[in-house]
Amino acid sequence: MDQDNPIIVALDCDNRATAERTVDRLGDECRFYKVGLELLTVAGPDFVKHLVAQGKEVFLDLKLFEIPHSVAGAVRAAGALGVSMVTVHGMGGTGILAAAVDAARAFPGLRILALTVVTSMTGEDLADIGVGDSVEEQVLRLARLAAKAGCHGVIASPQDAAVLRSTLGTDALIVTPGVTLPGDAPADHARPGTPRAAIAAGASHVVVGRTVTRAADPAAAFRLVRTSLDR
Ligand code: C5P
Repeated sequence: MDQDNPIIVALDCDNRATAERTVDRLGDECRFYKVGLELLTVAGPDFVKHLVAQGKEVFLDLKLFEIPHSVAGAVRAAGALGVSMVTVHGMGGTGILAAAVDAARAFPGLRILALTVVTSMTGEDLADIGVGDSVEEQVLRLARLAAKAGCHGVIASPQDAAVLRSTLGTDALIVTPGVTLPGDAPADHARPGTPRAAIAAGASHVVVGRTVTRAADPAAAFRLVRTSLDR
């Protein structure tokens, strides 16, 4: 995986033509894309293969939470497409985390990332599902569990990046969605941060969606994110 590409653009759209237009407009400057469940469902694995054939890295955000056998099958299918990252829910426990890691061994370029607490969730949301601990405690618990199961990294909010870096060590991937540029509305992120703050806190990658894809000029918005990291 190319660690010099810390910005992953989330192609959250409901049709392939829009996704292709965004990729075209971003051109060579953007090398890493996240494909989520919406686009995968509407455009199918062919679109993922198309991105990989164009030399792009793909983070396939499958958010797996299934029995280990099914998780392993989905990871193998993702690996065969040539993607670089797949997500699994840490809440699923050691069985599914380990099954994902094991299945990924056949694909040297494939990294398994565990979701800890999705960035839209608050302490109240956790309490609603019977988790009495704070968001921070739950994030740490699941991150430790994922590391123990052999996961290559975690998805976490920018605000959790620092403590995760000190807990997981230098090699772990820490991928932070929920970022917006200073001055942008925080959208639906309960625990947002800027890309620069996320990287400074220890994130290896940031996932940027609407800030780039909904901009009048996506390439200019992408450049703004990139230069914000250099400052
Ligand atoms: O908000 P934005 O458009 O930048 O979202 C990009 C990606 O970040 C989404 O695909 C989603 O998976 C993730 N996200 C998140 N938590 C949120 C909002 C978005 O994890 N509250």
